[in-house]
Amino acid sequence: MDIDAYRDLDPPARVLLGPGPSNVHPRVLRAMSMPSIGHLDPGFLKVMDESMDLLRALFKSANTMTFPVSGTGSAGMEAAIVNFVEPGDRVIVGCNGLFGERMIDVAQRCGAEVVPVSAEWGRVIEPEAVQTALRSQARTKLVCLVHAETSTGAWQPLEEIGRLTREHEALFLVDAVTSLAGCDVQVDNWGIDICYSGTQKCLSCPPGLAPITVGERAMRALEARKTKVQSWYLDLSLVRQYWSAGRFYHHTAPVNMIYAFREALRLIHEEGLEKRFARHQLHGDALHAGLEALGLALHAQDGHRLPVLTAVRIPEGVEDLKVRQALLNEFGIEIGGGLGPLRGKVWRIGLMGHSSTRANLVQLLTALEAVLPRFGFKLERGAGTAAALAVLDG
Ligand SMILES: Cc1ncc(COP(=O)(O)O)c(C=O)c1O
Repeated sequence: MDIDAYRDLDPPARVLLGPGPSNVHPRVLRAMSMPSIGHLDPGFLKVMDESMDLLRALFKSANTMTFPVSGTGSAGMEAAIVNFVEPGDRVIVGCNGLFGERMIDVAQRCGAEVVPVSAEWGRVIEPEAVQTALRSQARTKLVCLVHAETSTGAWQPLEEIGRLTREHEALFLVDAVTSLAGCDVQVDNWGIDICYSGTQKCLSCPPGLAPITVGERAMRALEARKTKVQSWYLDLSLVRQYWSAGRFYHHTAPVNMIYAFREALRLIHEEGLEKRFARHQLHGDALHAGLEALGLALHAQDGHRLPVLTAVRIPEGVEDLKVRQALLNEFGIEIGGGLGPLRGKVWRIGLMGHSSTRANLVQLLTALEAVLPRFGFKLERGAGTAAALAVLDG
């Protein structure tokens, strides 16, 4: 083998403004490069305990069962569903984008009788629609919603649906993969029983962990199962034995990822949650103003647009891929393309965590102002950045 052909890693410098991963803070990368120690070493157990404390504060929850699942956001989704769904259970799932669809797929694989509550991609699920489903479907076990639908940019309101779900004695499961640490997530106040996320979005940590939190009602449902959880690896009643006082070996924890996770959480709490949400909101508002000033249309329902992920419609005649390639190759900026029915129709722009900065926002709008006219799209040069700066500077 010609080993010289395999050079040292040299990833290109990128401004990550897609749907994730976002840019990672140097402190997180530094933490990740600390020496690996045993996953049962007393030194590591302290790291675990501190990570759980910091994570509870981020989820705004007192839930004992709060820890990162090994795996990406989809592992969080599988863990959240596979532990609480048994064959024949009735599960209501909000379906207004790709990740709602993925939840349906996972629930069906567990043998659930899925009742989808659908809305157009880009719109939110109305509480009345969930109420109608709950009323017509007796003994619903679980209601599942995506807080921040990354495929459309829609920001799903949760509080009222949490209340309705509890009234009907069902469990409320929320996907907070894209929202956690960028938008407020109040697990306890909003009556959320099970909530999961991913590390690579607003937590600004590399991909690889899925923080999860599970409340008492859901724990009781887990204990009352008649059948074994079909996934051994994601069986939370086994995994929790490692993340609690007994520290029983289940699988080897990804030690260095947990170092990184703890550091990302420290950065989040150093900034302060409310300040962090306000930063994401301000930059999201400025981006929306800038894009609209360029004559571009935002895809998600007005009044329910996420600040952390914006789907913007691709104008007639403008070539999706060529624009993304120009942004990447000429400006080092990554944005995302559309998924499913929105493929080729929208771009998805993330302003998440460490990537949500004034400089990145202005850089992106400037780059779009340079690239879009090449496709015959008429815009007023400088209008986007001016509108964004007007929002930023009040
Ligand atoms: C809302 C939502 N849920 C779940 C996932 C799946 O996460 P992952 O790709 O990390 O497995 C994603 C990823 O983009 C997401 O945006």
